[in-house]
Parts: sequence; C-alpha cells; structure tokens
Amino acid sequence: MAVSAPVDATKTLAWEALKAHYDALQAEGISLKDWFAADPDRVSKLTFQAGDLHFDLSKNLITDETVKLLADLGRACGVEERRAAMFAGEHINTTEDRAVLHTALRRPAEQKGQLIVDGQDVVADVHEVLDRMYAFAERVRSGEWRGVTGKKIEHLVSIGIGGSDLGPVMAYEALRPYADAGIDCRYISNIDPNDMAEKVKGLDPETTLVIIVSKTFTTLETLTNAREVKAWMLEQLKAAGAIDGSDEQNAEAIAKHFVAVSTALDLVADFGIDPENAFGFWNWVGGRYSVDSAVGLSLIIVLGPERFQQFLAGFRAIDEYFENTPLEENVVALMGLMNVWYVNFFGADTHAVLPYTQYLHRFPAYLQQLTMESNGKQVRWDGSAVTCHTGEVFWGEPGTNGQHAFYQLIHQGNVMVPADFIAFANTHNPAQDNGQDVHELFLGNFLAQTKALAFGKTAEEVRAEGTPEEIVPARVFTGNRPTTSIFGDTLTPFALGELIALYEHITFVQGTVWGIDSYDQWGVELGKQLAKQITPAFHDDEALAAQDASTRALIEYYRAHR
Ligand code: F6P
Repeated sequence: MAVSAPVDATKTLAWEALKAHYDALQAEGISLKDWFAADPDRVSKLTFQAGDLHFDLSKNLITDETVKLLADLGRACGVEERRAAMFAGEHINTTEDRAVLHTALRRPAEQKGQLIVDGQDVVADVHEVLDRMYAFAERVRSGEWRGVTGKKIEHLVSIGIGGSDLGPVMAYEALRPYADAGIDCRYISNIDPNDMAEKVKGLDPETTLVIIVSKTFTTLETLTNAREVKAWMLEQLKAAGAIDGSDEQNAEAIAKHFVAVSTALDLVADFGIDPENAFGFWNWVGGRYSVDSAVGLSLIIVLGPERFQQFLAGFRAIDEYFENTPLEENVVALMGLMNVWYVNFFGADTHAVLPYTQYLHRFPAYLQQLTMESNGKQVRWDGSAVTCHTGEVFWGEPGTNGQHAFYQLIHQGNVMVPADFIAFANTHNPAQDNGQDVHELFLGNFLAQTKALAFGKTAEEVRAEGTPEEIVPARVFTGNRPTTSIFGDTLTPFALGELIALYEHITFVQGTVWGIDSYDQWGVELGKQLAKQITPAFHDDEALAAQDASTRALIEYYRAHR
C-alpha cells in the first residue's frame, strides 16, 4: 500500500489550538506550584502505567487541556494510521523502500504465520534465527564450544559500530548483574587503533570468541577492526604454538574463534567465516533498532537465552501497550507528543535523559543514535522541506554524577531542558553507611532534583534563610522546569527491554508529527564518501591539490608533523 503524504503539522487545526493554548498559558503565567495547589488530582491524572513501569508526568508544563490538544495533534498527523502501518510491515521507510519491523523481533513464536511481509513469514524467520542463536549460546556457555586449543570460551570481543555496537554495549553494561556464565565481553567500535589496542590488552586468544557485527558487512570501521583482530588472533595463537600458521590451521582457528552477525551472509563467507557460524537479520531492521535482533548475540551468550527472552518480553509489553492504547491515555505517545510541545512551542533544543542507576551509564549515548539519527532531518518522507524545528539533541549522564556537573544549567540556565529521570526502587547492590540505606540516599537525590526543578525557590524563601541581599538573586530557582519521572521495580532484562521500546516509539511519534522518515540515515553518507577521497591526500600531491584550502592546510600540518 502506498504511504500517504505527510501532514503538515503546522497547518492543522490542532497545531493552531495548541499555539492559542500555549499563548494563553504564557499570558496567565505558568506555575507548577499553582497548578498542583489548584488540582488535588493532578498527580493521579498524570500518572500512568505501561508494562510494569510507572510514569509521573505531573511535573511537566501540561494541563488536562494540553493532553487533549496533544492527542488531537497526534491524530491530525496520522500517528494512529502510521503506527498501524508500521506494525503491519508497510514500507514506511520510503527513501529506502523498506518495512520498519523491529517490533516483529519480539513477537512470540505463537504468532508464526500471522505477519507475512513481502512474501515472508517474518515471525517464523525471527524465531528460526533466535533458536539457532540460543543453541549456539548454550554451547558457548556450557563449554561445549571450545577454542582451537580445546579451552572454554571466557571472553567475547564484539566488533561493530553505531547500531551494531551502541545497543549491545549499553545493554551489557546495564545487565552486568545477570552475567552468570563467567564470560565477559569487550566491545571494539572506533577505527582509531587505540580502541582495539586497549581492548585486546591482556586477552587470552585461546579463550576468546570474536563476534563481528555489521548489518551491511561493508562498514569501514568494522571491517578494518575485524581484519586487525583476525591478524592479532592468528599471530598470538601462532606465537603460543597453538597453530603453525598454515592456511589450514588458520582456517580452523578462524572457524573456532570468529562468528558473525549480518544481513549480508555472502560477504560474511567472503571474510572466511563459516556460514554455519553466521546469524542473519533483515533489511527491515534499522541498525539503531537492532539490539533485540541477532545483533544482541553477545548478550545472549553473556546473559543466557532465558534472560534474553525476558528482555524481548519487555519490548513486547511496551509494543502492545503503545499499539493498543488510545492516544490520550498512552504515556508512550504522550511522551513523544510532549517532546514536540517543548521543541516547537517552548523552543527547547535539547532533552536530557538522567538515569538514577549507574548500570544505565551508556543509555544516553545509545539514545543519541536512536533519536538523533532518526529525527535529525531537514526533509519529510515525501522529500519536501520540514515545516518546523525537528530533532532535538538528546544527552545525559547518570545521577548523581550529573548533579555535580551540568545540572546547574538545567536549574538556573536560560534555556529549557526537558528531562526524563529514570530510577528503580531496588538496587542490585544494597549498602549501608552509618545505618543509612545508601540506595535511599541515592533515590532521595532523584526526588530532590525533580522537586527543585518543578517548584524552585523564591527570593522570599532565600531571604528567610538569612541570605545577604546582594546574593539573593543568584540563589533563586525559578522552578517550572519540566521533568518526567520513570520509576521501575528493578533494572531487569524485562525492564531494560521496556525502556528501549519506550524510546523507540517516542522517536516514532515525534518523527510522524514532523513528517520525517525516522528510519533512513542519509546524513552520515557524505562524510563517509569524502573520507575515501581525502585519505590519499596525506601522501598524494594530486589528491592534496584537489582539496579545499582549509583541508589542504590541515593536511600540510599533518605532513609537517609526521
Ligand atoms: O553510518 C551509520 C550507520 O549506517 C548506522 O546507521 C549503523 O548503525 C552503523 O552505520 C553501522 O552499520 P553496519 O551495521 O552496517 O556496520
């Protein structure tokens, strides 16, 4: 079915109504303090449950009317129709003419035969690969799979970049408490040789399994690192007397120590990896939406198949919620629509994600690719120019570290930074300090920050503390700085799956309102092309002469210092 033209959100009645509503709120004066005082039900009305996550939207700059108008905007921009089209496998990625079916990666096996896309039973395909990965992971975890010298695998090295790295590395860090097979993983992504050098330091090649992860299997960084690690592995094994360096023994070592994940299984075979040891996925899985595909192989090995299934179940819980809940009550959709509200009406350029668990320390970095590679676009899915500001910058760090770094600007700077706070009631590592539960000390900070941002501190309150008059202004907090609190029970594989799916769908909602194809990434191509043209100029005068004046001067600096 042909994808319908994007609606121009700014030309809808819903947008007009939101603009009038925004102007009225500004004219009355926005005051969360007053709104809380005036409406004792504010918290209950703006509290939601999706999956097993608890959401408090009450500290956002929204009223009952805003929620209604945002849902109207979502409907006017076709969020419901496009949501249905995405789940059904229509080719909503128009510039690449592809379906967008990461949601199929977490459909249960019982749904085989229920989703046929482009002639393929996608659920059957997904489970065929999952079953092969689970069997492979069990062999590695149990020690049945051994290295070329007969030793059990104790270390993984996963080589990939972008979506073939950020998701696995983030989830590996997040789920460390569940790594129970005595197998660790190091992730190499950067083409900077320093990355590989540091990651292979101290590694025993005889107990190491390398996973090469690349959707296209053509990515410069990944293939360069893969060749480097292959050379390192063969050299080390030869130096240890484990192999003699003959083609036959090299091939045997590669077969025991290298596996691959890709959509291009022919290129995997060309690299020398046995197709038996390759795990596929499909072009309808975008790189940044792929952690729950074969791209997550390192996680299945480290955590075990059962926990990976719980991870997928978490995604699924949010998918089902998002797909089936009316927009006004749908916290996933509302979070996307609120982001539009802040970007397009309040002029917010950035959005902070602040996890109050150290285990999520790579979550903001992961979200940067998910959100910014998806929605950092200047044209809509029909090629016409966007009609409003799009694609805010996502950033963040775990609390409490961020509190001692950049929170100053969120509290008292003159830009608006809407922020999502993510916390869990239980910790994997309970601790006591002088009779004080340290996790409660930590959670106290999460609650204190969202309270301070919402309600601030007036000059009168500052004066009442005996502050000298000349520094009163510096100690005033205006408040009315929007936050969403996401609270969970424990950071489990299930909860992590829920969080990832949540942000996938938030990104979808924003992209839909803005008319963007959130599933292509043409913006990364020009740099890749130019790097190929420029690199020869380090040594080739003709190539140097073809460069612009600035690039030429920088290369001359390089030549003078090398
Ligand atoms: O250059 C951007 C990108 O295409 C990302 O979208 C992708 O996640 C990454 O490169 C890695 O690509 P591949 O998995 O094909 O190596």
